[in-house]
Amino acid sequence: MAVRTTSRLRYVSLALPMLLVGMAFSRVASATTVSAPPASSFFLNGLKGQAPTTRYYDFVVSERTGSPDGYSKPMLVVNGQWPGPTIEANQGDRLVVKVTNQLANNKTTIHYHGLLQNGTQYWDGVQGVSECGIPPGQSLTYDFPIGTFTGTTWWHGHFDAQYTDGISGALIVHNTDPAPAGFPTWDEEVVLQLSDIYHRSSYSIIADYMAGAQSPLALETPDSGAINGIGQYGGKGDYFDLELQPNKTYRLRLINTGSATDIRFSVDNHALTVIEADGTLLEPYSVTGVDIVPGQRYSVLLTTNQAAGPYWMRVELETAMMIPGTNDDIRGVIRYGTTNTSLPKNITDPGVPGSGLSDLNTTKLAPYTPDLPPARSKFYMSNFTFGLTSTGGVIAYMNGTSWQPLEGTFSLLEVQKTDGKYAPEGSSVQSRDQFFITEDSIETVDLLLVNEGPGDHPFHLHGHRPWIMGSGTGTFDGHELTPANPLRRDTFDIPSQGWMMIRYISDNPGPWTLHCHNAWHMAVGMLLQLNNLPSKALRMKIPQAILDQCKV
Ligand code: C2O
Ligand code: CU
Repeated sequence: MAVRTTSRLRYVSLALPMLLVGMAFSRVASATTVSAPPASSFFLNGLKGQAPTTRYYDFVVSERTGSPDGYSKPMLVVNGQWPGPTIEANQGDRLVVKVTNQLANNKTTIHYHGLLQNGTQYWDGVQGVSECGIPPGQSLTYDFPIGTFTGTTWWHGHFDAQYTDGISGALIVHNTDPAPAGFPTWDEEVVLQLSDIYHRSSYSIIADYMAGAQSPLALETPDSGAINGIGQYGGKGDYFDLELQPNKTYRLRLINTGSATDIRFSVDNHALTVIEADGTLLEPYSVTGVDIVPGQRYSVLLTTNQAAGPYWMRVELETAMMIPGTNDDIRGVIRYGTTNTSLPKNITDPGVPGSGLSDLNTTKLAPYTPDLPPARSKFYMSNFTFGLTSTGGVIAYMNGTSWQPLEGTFSLLEVQKTDGKYAPEGSSVQSRDQFFITEDSIETVDLLLVNEGPGDHPFHLHGHRPWIMGSGTGTFDGHELTPANPLRRDTFDIPSQGWMMIRYISDNPGPWTLHCHNAWHMAVGMLLQLNNLPSKALRMKIPQAILDQCKV
């Protein structure tokens, strides 16, 4: 059964921005509602260059009512805000995040997307894989060295699809080494979290998705979106409004923190120079707009060298389908050189006149410093597709398995309890459809991911930054690929009815998930695990607090 069939339901979105021009809205926050942090809080702090230190964060997860796009809905958030607090640190720092679960009925976890957690897999924050989840009323203190990742990333809930409901925030790691010679420079840095928005809670969407109660494509279609927690819907909402200085260069750190929708980001009249993808510094590449799939990040440089004034930032949701009322045209404002607080006048996107530039093409992304992988020593293949349950609900398969989280235990614990024999060398399936690829020695593994259905899938690999060896539509013709300067990134889009070859080194002990970052697809099983070095992982000391929380 193909989920992403072309639907008869295709409507053009309403010309909402027209209605919104000139309207002002206020955001109210109380102990039971969600607030959007002020724009000034998204400028980074300039802690780069400080001596290594431990950075402490206190996260309280609770259920509140929020209206990021003007429509009131139930949310699950950290510290009463969406986005949650930005974690900013330097390479070499230690991170201590005390997470208290104030949800009434559900466990929760926090995952640090893109961090390698080498030697600390039990702090990866994944339900059923690295922990059982923090029970309601309890806390867990995640405590780990940040490791070698540097760049733009984010943290988010990794229990069911809770991050859809608001458990997410930015995570920025500054490098301690100087930038490579000749790399561009900038004056200031701003984080922009771009997201789709669903008005229903993730739990009710998943229930319908699994029951076949509604068309899956309609369920996957968001209602609207937001920039740093502020968006528009049905003539309501507000604009994220960013005040900059003229004639300066800003590094905008873009993160797609959404659940299903690819997002195109652009700023009217301004070229964007892409310099980072998921932590990899790039050969500067100037474009008119960037497409970002859920989980991916880009840093782009923007120079405030146009006429003074307000300009639209545009977040275009590339939904597979439009349903009545969907707003796929989300706006924010960049303004400089003026004290005028009015909104930009133009409705249609002028692009970047006279630039001759076009949108980002990911095949043109080249690491600034080439980083070539060793030759392959192992090769595996994984195919994935959708199916239907007996009630007409959606189910996703990888190699014929449909993952469900373990309960009362988790993958690393199973590895330890069985003295490393849980998932034997090679590929295997354990109960509750746990599909593993296990390597007990350090190997260079090529993994061919084959997308058998229509629709692209944004996959994310934990604990690694694999090399993207190649990708295409149709059938892969089967040979070892040797790209001249392959990109390394942790989140990558596998084309509709196509394939991608990734290469990783199995040098990070523990089970690591490889899953679709579409929250709905993962919830119905689009996940497998790379189980590295079990004989080493069985000697890792899982904190007692994690073990105790499995007994609840
Ligand atoms: Cu962004 Cu498995 O996570
Ligand atoms: Cu998917």
